[in-house]
Amino acid sequence: MGTEDEAAPPSSSSSVKKKKQGLGWIEWIRGWMVVVQEMLFQRIMASHLHNPMPLPPINDLTCIVTGSTSGIGCEIARQLAQAGAHVVMAVRNTKAAQELIQKWQIDSEGFCIALNVEVMQVDLLSLDSVARFAEAWNARSVPVNALINNAGIFSIGEPQKFSKDGYEEHLQVNHLAPALLSVLLLPSLMRGSPSRIVNVNSVMHYVGFVDPEDMNVTSGKRKYSSFIGYTSSKLAEVMFSSVLHKRIPAEAGIGVVCVSPGIVQTNVARDLPKIVQAAYRLIPYFIFNAQEGSRSALFAATDPSVSEYCEMLRSDEWPVCAFISQDCRPANPSEESHEVQTQYEVWEKTLEMIGLPSDAVERLIEGQEVKCRYGQQQ
Ligand SMILES: NC(=O)c1ccc[n+]([C@@H]2O[C@H](COP(=O)([O-])OP(=O)(O)OC[C@H]3O[C@@H](n4cnc5c(N)ncnc54)[C@H](OP(=O)(O)O)[C@@H]3O)[C@@H](O)[C@H]2O)c1
Repeated sequence: MGTEDEAAPPSSSSSVKKKKQGLGWIEWIRGWMVVVQEMLFQRIMASHLHNPMPLPPINDLTCIVTGSTSGIGCEIARQLAQAGAHVVMAVRNTKAAQELIQKWQIDSEGFCIALNVEVMQVDLLSLDSVARFAEAWNARSVPVNALINNAGIFSIGEPQKFSKDGYEEHLQVNHLAPALLSVLLLPSLMRGSPSRIVNVNSVMHYVGFVDPEDMNVTSGKRKYSSFIGYTSSKLAEVMFSSVLHKRIPAEAGIGVVCVSPGIVQTNVARDLPKIVQAAYRLIPYFIFNAQEGSRSALFAATDPSVSEYCEMLRSDEWPVCAFISQDCRPANPSEESHEVQTQYEVWEKTLEMIGLPSDAVERLIEGQEVKCRYGQQQ
């Protein structure tokens, strides 16, 4: 919540708009209503879905899944692999990923399926690591059909922490690193066209606010809390994705989608006090398990209708990217995410922070080389 008392630079219209310092009361209340509705009624809203979600034939798909050693990402990777896709587990703990593959392989033996899964190391708290991951993948000159930016953190109640790149950790893991990965992998996504970038976002973005001049929340204009860190990072992801969706031309055949997995029992609550974690487990009726929480991302990554939906939004010049709710239905992201001028400010600021030129997307789509400040071979 904030006041609207600072003058903003003139917008494209001739009027001078007041610079917004937070969500207005009405937006804030409406945002919380969406969150509470998801908390209480997600199971009813998603009652038409099967669990596990049946997948279309995907033997010819290559999918990169970040954060696939735990929770929702682990389920996404397992189900894609067991349905025949080539899955790349992009993780920081490669040993844990190898152990999971062995377990999945044993589980699949009855079905005579040889899983096609590989593990690649990436630490989203290091933009060098992200850029090196993309360089290594692009050097293989093979397609990617779905990049699933799933890895995320919510360090509830923890003090503000910064990555070695100097960015607030929620911002870096939940927004900056996936943004860098998405842009740098565009050449491979074009090879895999029609392809998708799927961002595992959150209903919590409805109560988020991003100040593009203070993405790190260090200016003192807003008091930092992990809640602010998390919700702003998720809103920044929707805003950046909306510009990315508009910048990628239809001919490139790459859809950009954000999804809400629902409220899901995973390790994301690992930093909560033990008593709250126990309470969390006592309300399974309301909370999805990881398999249920994986459905919206799996739907966004594999359902043929999603590419058409992204294309329809682009041709209608809709101001935001596709957003798929936990019940696998299209939803409208938050009112704040529709602020087009802020979207572009978030876009510019993000590209600057991740060390890419402002025309990176256009140049990569045209097949030109783009230099990134991070990740050049050391
Ligand atoms: N659970 C929910 O209720 C909920 C609701 C809305 C949105 N989401 C979103 O869903 C996504 C998945 O979360 P989850 O609930 O499945 O949480 P989780 O069980 O904690 O899994 C998070 C995954 O992200 C990985 N990760 C974290 N930091 C990383 C880093 N620096 N580099 C590489 N990987 C990193 C973790 O790897 P390690 O195992 O190595 O730590 C783990 O594999 C997140 O984006 C989260 O914001 C979750």
